[in-house]
Amino acid sequence: MTKRTPIIAGNWKMHNTLAESATLVEALKKADNKNNAEIIVAPSYTSLAEVARLAKGSAIKVAAQDVHWEDKGAFTSAVSPVQAKDAGATHTILGHSERRSVFGDTDEILNKKVAAALRHGLTIIFCVGETLQQREANETISVIEGQLENGLKGFTAEQLKGLIIAYEPVWAIGTGKTATPDQAQEVHAAIRKFLAGKYSQEFADATRILYGGSVKDTNVDEIMAQPDVDGALVGGQALIAEKFARIINFN
Ligand code: 13P
Repeated sequence: MTKRTPIIAGNWKMHNTLAESATLVEALKKADNKNNAEIIVAPSYTSLAEVARLAKGSAIKVAAQDVHWEDKGAFTSAVSPVQAKDAGATHTILGHSERRSVFGDTDEILNKKVAAALRHGLTIIFCVGETLQQREANETISVIEGQLENGLKGFTAEQLKGLIIAYEPVWAIGTGKTATPDQAQEVHAAIRKFLAGKYSQEFADATRILYGGSVKDTNVDEIMAQPDVDGALVGGQALIAEKFARIINFN
């Protein structure tokens, strides 16, 4: 089986001024990285170019938090994959639950965004996750399979090579409630099984699946110990250099 390089990603959401972003990335550049993890940060668009400039030559890669499905046009406030790439992004998050629930990104919209990101060679961090209501109704796996099926529709394993998936249970985001390591493992294993069935075992074995939702310096070790958890997508604690550095250096 493929050995998967761990990924520790920080989603800065709508936080940080330019100066705060610069301070944070400079601190992270000095952090140890004993696991040789891939480190990714996703600043606000206003900080994207500056963070990418400061991260250049370091192990830190930069992601957009979202991109539009068109390359350019009359889409006030949106940012295209061309612009994100031009600003220095190598990755983009797509389908974050806040995009889905607050901004109305549907599976169909996300499918167009996936096409746009692939067209411009941005590595996609594709987020999936169930609400508490869906979990309680035992719909977790079917909801996530639907998000993957529809969001990635029409693309082959070859086209999706390098795809990163982030499992973020909606009820665990920003709530302080983390999925137990067993709950995370169960869903990650189901995602990998889905990928094996839909694409190939090789593709499933190579795809990194991150867990997100109240990941902290105090719980990252037990989450990362799960065989199908290949990394973390961190929100709140990604804004605090010492906490994020500890998460990068999970045991
Ligand atoms: P928190 O770590 O703040 O729960 O956020 C998780 C998240 O949404 C990362 O994308």
